[in-house]
Amino acid sequence: MSAEVVLSVDHVVKTFRVHQQRANSLKQLIAARGRNVFDEFLAVDDVTFDVHEGEVFGVIGQNGSGKSTLLKCMAGILRPNKGSVRVHRRMGVLLELGAGFHPDLTGRENVFLNAAILGMGRKEISQRFDAIVDFSGLHKFIDQPVKTYSSGMYVRLAFAVAINVDPQLLIVDEILAVGDVSFQRRCMEKFVEFRNDGRTIVLVTHDMGSVKNLCDRALWLERGRAVDQGDPGGLVDAYTERMLGGSQRSEDGPSRRGSGELQVTRIEMMVGDDQAPVSRLRTGDALRLRLHYRSDTSVPQPVFGVEIATLGGVAITAPCSRDVGMVPSSLSGEGFVDVSFPCVDLLPGTYDLHTSVTDFNRAHVYDHLQGAMRFDVMTGRPYETGGIVSFRPEWTVS
Ligand SMILES: Nc1ncnc2c1ncn2[C@@H]1O[C@H](COP(=O)(O)OP(=O)(O)OP(=O)(O)O)[C@@H](O)[C@H]1O
Ligand SMILES: [Mg+2]
Repeated sequence: MSAEVVLSVDHVVKTFRVHQQRANSLKQLIAARGRNVFDEFLAVDDVTFDVHEGEVFGVIGQNGSGKSTLLKCMAGILRPNKGSVRVHRRMGVLLELGAGFHPDLTGRENVFLNAAILGMGRKEISQRFDAIVDFSGLHKFIDQPVKTYSSGMYVRLAFAVAINVDPQLLIVDEILAVGDVSFQRRCMEKFVEFRNDGRTIVLVTHDMGSVKNLCDRALWLERGRAVDQGDPGGLVDAYTERMLGGSQRSEDGPSRRGSGELQVTRIEMMVGDDQAPVSRLRTGDALRLRLHYRSDTSVPQPVFGVEIATLGGVAITAPCSRDVGMVPSSLSGEGFVDVSFPCVDLLPGTYDLHTSVTDFNRAHVYDHLQGAMRFDVMTGRPYETGGIVSFRPEWTVS
């Protein structure tokens, strides 16, 4: 990837000292000689990755796998025992409930403290203070200690600070789990807006749907170690499979039928003008499907078809080349057929692609690939939260 690195985490190790339960034998008691005895607990174990400009980077892993600890190291709230974290852009952080805010300080004091940690000068904070409080909607409570806040109020204030420092890099820990639905939606909209602005987001979440839909890359932690990183689709599938012990795997791969004189041998998906095949797209992308075919004999008037369907099997669209009169008099040997969709307004989710090649009357099937390809659609433009397609609505109020 050519985009600039905005955050680099380099061989970071973070241990915590935990008090040993208590000496369970006289021998241990003597060995300790009254000193405090600690165990070193490895919460983050030699983790390395880079986050690039404009990326949404997800961190996944089970409870206790070290996600929040890693994020606190990135935010400078914890200092790694080994390794380094370098942050090259102005950062906004929204950590798990309780981190970053001091319970005994008031909302106002915490805003100043928090914004200072994020690198804002006192003068600048004063200038933005009103905007922060306005955003949070907590005017009445701003001079009360935050320990009296509800979790929703707490998160609203933290969110208001995080986005009002005008961050180029936003670090968010599990915030979608707190707050009400409208707050979650506002967060989500903000993330999409941020991403469309080319800002960078690092996101911890247990919501695998958002990882697939929103993230460009992801990191999987297990007991403090990085198991894998890369394409979120594959990572989430592997993670989910591991969590479920491989019991819920339903994909059987493509199944083929037909007489076989002409077959689709390979399918590529390309987005925009790019030539490189992809496995995911965003709502609103221009999509090109390339069906490579092969036939050993000459096949007269073949008709190619594709179907995009939900995982439940509902066909969303199923065009064929005959619809537009593109029927060659015959095909033989190898080649490919392209079908372009100028604007795919599918909303985020996972979809199946089926392909078919038939005779002119669509009666005789040469080749039918059920489940030829499964692909993910990530959040793009337009942004909508219900249904499976966007009709690009325009709203007016009179
Ligand atoms: N201050 C601390 N002192 C001692 N141990 C800690 C401390 N903070 C975290 N730990 C331990 O480090 C491990 C990783 O915790 P962390 O909060 O980073 O996990 P997590 O992946 O964020 O989990 P979750 O999904 O539940 O939020 C856990 O075993 C936790 O008990
Ligand atoms: Mg956590």
